[in-house]
Amino acid sequence: MEIQKINVSDLSKRLFLVHPPEPRPDALLSSINEGIYVGKTRWLNVPVFWNFRKLINPHVAIVGITGSGKSYLVKTFLTRASLVWNSNAIILDWVGEYDKWVRQAGGTVLRLGEERLNLMDLAGLTPSERIKQIMSALEILLDLHNFPSERYDIEEALEDTYAGVKRPTLSDVVSILEKNKKKAAARLLKRFTTQGSDFFARQSTLSLDKLTTSGLVCIDLHSLPTEEMRSLAGLTILQFLKEKMRREEMKEEKGVRLFVVVDEAWKIASDERSDVITIVREGRKYNFALIVASQNPTDMHKTIFSNVGTMFILRLVLREFKDYVRQSLSYSDYIDSEISKFGVGDAALNMIFSKRSGGSHTFLLNKIDGEEPLFIYNLEVDGMSVEKEREQFCNMLYELGLTDEQIGLVKNEFEKGDGTMDATAFVSLLEKFGYSPSSIMGFLRQLEVDEKDIVEIFTLTRRRKAAKGLVDLTLTEG
Ligand SMILES: Nc1ncnc2c1ncn2[C@@H]1O[C@H](COP(=O)(O)OP(=O)(O)O)[C@@H](O)[C@H]1O
Ligand SMILES: [Mg+2]
Repeated sequence: MEIQKINVSDLSKRLFLVHPPEPRPDALLSSINEGIYVGKTRWLNVPVFWNFRKLINPHVAIVGITGSGKSYLVKTFLTRASLVWNSNAIILDWVGEYDKWVRQAGGTVLRLGEERLNLMDLAGLTPSERIKQIMSALEILLDLHNFPSERYDIEEALEDTYAGVKRPTLSDVVSILEKNKKKAAARLLKRFTTQGSDFFARQSTLSLDKLTTSGLVCIDLHSLPTEEMRSLAGLTILQFLKEKMRREEMKEEKGVRLFVVVDEAWKIASDERSDVITIVREGRKYNFALIVASQNPTDMHKTIFSNVGTMFILRLVLREFKDYVRQSLSYSDYIDSEISKFGVGDAALNMIFSKRSGGSHTFLLNKIDGEEPLFIYNLEVDGMSVEKEREQFCNMLYELGLTDEQIGLVKNEFEKGDGTMDATAFVSLLEKFGYSPSSIMGFLRQLEVDEKDIVEIFTLTRRRKAAKGLVDLTLTEG
C-alpha cells in the first residue's frame, strides 16, 4: 500500500515534468548575448529569454490595466535590446511617461508642440504618393468617407498646392480651398492651421530621416493640445517610417534594427488603414519590429493580435477584455483566472515559436524581472551640483541612520523636483531629523561636495532660515 502511494505521486510528478504547462526549456533559454531576459516561469523557474531567432516574428503586444507594468516592461526590454543587439528604437509617447527615462538612458527626446512637422513634406515620395498618405491620415481622423465632396475638394487642393507652391504647407492648401470657395472643406482643415494648433502647417524642425538610426528616440506627443493632433502626428510619423522601411533592402537574416514602440495609442492601433498594421505585416522582412502596448486590448486591431509572435498579458480584469484576448490565444481556464489576480509585473506570456521548436504556448511568468531604471538625484545650490544614483544615495542615508520613513520623506522631496533638490533644503531636512551640523557636513563630504561649497551651503541655510523667520515674523505682526 505504502509503496503504491509513493509510486502514484511520483508518477504524477514525472508526468508533470514531462508535460508541464510551459514550453520546453530549450525554447526559452538563450545565452545572454543572444536574447533579452524577461523573467522566470512560474512552475519550473526557467529563465525566459526573448530571442527573435526562435520566434515567428519580432513583434510584441502588451496588454494590461493601468499600473500593471506595461511601460516598465517596454523600458526593460529596450534597455536590454540595445545592449544585446545595439538596436534603435522610436517611442511614440502619448502621455509623456518616457521622457525622463529616455534622457537618463542617453537617448533623444523630441517634443512635438515645440518641434514642428510639416504634413506636406515629401520625404522622398512623389506628390501623388504623399497625397494618398495625407488623405488616408485625414480619413482616419476626420471620417472623410462621410464627406465625399469635401474629400474630393481637399484632394484636388493638395494636387494644386504641390503643383503651384514651393515647399508648401497646409496653410497653402487652405488658401487654395478658400480661393475656390470650398468653404466646408477649408473648415475641415483649418483646425490644423489656426494659430496655436499649427504644428503640422509650418516648416518641419524635425528631421525624420535620421530618426531610425539615432539610438533611443522618444517622440513626446503629450503636449499637443488634442487627441486628434496626437493621432495625426503618430500616423504621419508611422507613414514616414513605413516609407523608410520599404526603401530598405529586404533582409535575408532575421534581426531587429529598429523597434517602433506605440504605447496607449488607441486611434492608431485600432484602425486598419494605420501603418501600425503595415509594420506588423511587413516589418519582419526589413528587420523592423513593432511593440504595441494598451490598457484596452479591444483597441488593438485584430490584425495586430493575429500577427504578433509575442504577447504579454499583464493584469486584466474586465471580462470583455479578457475574452477578446482569449479568442486569439487559447489557454486554460486556470490561466484565465490567474490573469485577474496578477500583481504588478506578473504576466502570462504567449510566444509563437518558429517551426523547429514548435507551436504556440501561453504560460505564466512570475514577474517581469526588470531593470530598476537608473535614477539620478541631484543636489544643487548656487551653481554647485552633485549627482548620485538614487539607490546609492538612499543606502548612504540608511548608513547615516535615517529611518525608512525619513528616507521616504527625502525621496519625496527629490521626486517633487524631478530628481533635483536644493542643498539647503536637504540640510534643513536633516537638521529637522535631529542631525548635528558636523554629521551633516560629514555626509556632504561623503557625497564629494567641495569644502568651500559645504561652507556656502551652511551659510545659505542659516541665511534662508533667518529670512524665513523674518517672513514669519512680519506675517504674524501683520
Ligand atoms: N515588473 C515590475 N517590477 C517592479 N516594479 C514594477 C514592475 N512593473 C511595473 N512596476 C512599477 O509599477 C508602476 C506602474 O508601472 P507602469 O509600467 O507605469 O504601468 P502601466 O504602463 O501598465 O500603466 C511603476 O512605478 C513601475 O516602476
Ligand atoms: Mg504606461
